[in-house]
Amino acid sequence: MGETLLVVGLQWGDEGKGQIIDALADRFDIIVRFQGGANAGHTVYIGQEKFVLHLIPSGILRAGKLCVIGNGVAVDPECLLEEIDTLQKRGLSVDGRLVVSDRAHVVMPYHKMLDQLHDAALRTRKIGTTGRGIGPCYADKAARNGLRIVEMMQPDALKRRLKALLEVKNKELTLVYGAQPLDVGELYKLCCGYAERLRPFVCDTLPLLQKALKEGKSILLEGAQGAMLDIEFGTYPYVTSSNVSTGGASVGTGMPPNRIDRVLGVVKAYCSRVGEGPFPTEQDNETGRTLRERGREYGSTTGRPRRCGWLDGVALRHAVSVNGADSIVVTGMTVLSALPKLKICVAYKVDGNRLENFPADPEVLSKAVPVYEEFEGWQSDVSGARTLEDLPRAAQDYLRAVEHICGAHVEMAAVGPEREQMVRHAHV
Ligand code: GDP
Ligand code: IMO
Ligand code: MG
Repeated sequence: MGETLLVVGLQWGDEGKGQIIDALADRFDIIVRFQGGANAGHTVYIGQEKFVLHLIPSGILRAGKLCVIGNGVAVDPECLLEEIDTLQKRGLSVDGRLVVSDRAHVVMPYHKMLDQLHDAALRTRKIGTTGRGIGPCYADKAARNGLRIVEMMQPDALKRRLKALLEVKNKELTLVYGAQPLDVGELYKLCCGYAERLRPFVCDTLPLLQKALKEGKSILLEGAQGAMLDIEFGTYPYVTSSNVSTGGASVGTGMPPNRIDRVLGVVKAYCSRVGEGPFPTEQDNETGRTLRERGREYGSTTGRPRRCGWLDGVALRHAVSVNGADSIVVTGMTVLSALPKLKICVAYKVDGNRLENFPADPEVLSKAVPVYEEFEGWQSDVSGARTLEDLPRAAQDYLRAVEHICGAHVEMAAVGPEREQMVRHAHV
């Protein structure tokens, strides 16, 4: 029987999921994205070559693997086609290896406009979204005003649907935001063009995945974002608009939860966050700047500098528990080499009380003062390590502490962003 492995981010995104998916993909037949959209930016280095994937699963860089964009993904056709073209230009054909669910919702041009207009209008309360139309697309899905890929494929139905949708969207664009309305004829032409080009990739992915399960194929589910950006369990309202966590993998693919064999969480050895929202362990100082520069922490989708700080064990425990993470992989170990002393937050102090669980109330979180445990740094180059024993004692101790604090077994550790820079089966 093939294994179904779910890989999820356990912080605020950008944990290094792309690298881990790429590293694991050679053992799997099918790689599936199940939520999010082009707000994601998953970086994979193969030697000196850098690939940033937004919608296409990171498994596409492994020859012969089938990649699926599941029903839960918010698909921006413009971005998807651009990504397909970029890969083709770099000599990587996706033909016959990429399928897109006909149930997935389409990110329309007005979703992107409304995302940017809305966030700007929030001024001091802005979320700092990626502006990729994700929130408005999922909002329309829930409000039953969305357009799915299957509807985009049928020209007559599409025309009628766009006319009805634009009547309302244009009112919102013009009356609420003072923006220019969209022309229904032009939008129709644009969508027909997308439909024509995407047609060879579109299918009902449910029978495909169910057949694969029956045949014992192995499936790798690729999460986007991270648990602390989850719409249910993250730092609401400073979150993304999808179910990032384990439950999302099931609804976003149609694969029953009991067919997911194992959950692997990806955790950066420190924390980063891009956009607004609470971040108790943020280091807006020299330490934060060192982490940003050493870790090349600039958004892979928007280029924005990421906020950086110490590992937050309280948030991580919460993420491990809501995801049911069986084990974790710790990335970014080489970045910490720059620092003589390291800290991990093990609890929060709020109004003099010790808090061990991640609070729902943003007011409580804004008052949370991290309680840190301090560790010796290793201050040496660990990029060549491939086994746990290759790592200096201080680095092994740090991994052991992470394991102890979050309660999930450390299975691997990344010692640099490249495919091979991995301590496998760490077992600390
Ligand atoms: P993803 O969205 O989870 O796939 O992660 P991104 O590719 O957006 O970002 C990962 C960030 O972590 C990048 O800024 C990297 O430079 C940084 N980083 C630091 N150390 C490592 C490492 O060991 N592995 C990986 N993959 N990234 C690292
Ligand atoms: P990957 O998959 C980091 C953040 C945005 C913003 C919030 C809401 O690369 O880890 P959205 O555009 O989703 O409505 O923005 O979520 N965000 C991410 N941060 N990595 C990501 O994806 C993110 N996707 C969204 O910066 O704070
Ligand atoms: Mg990213």
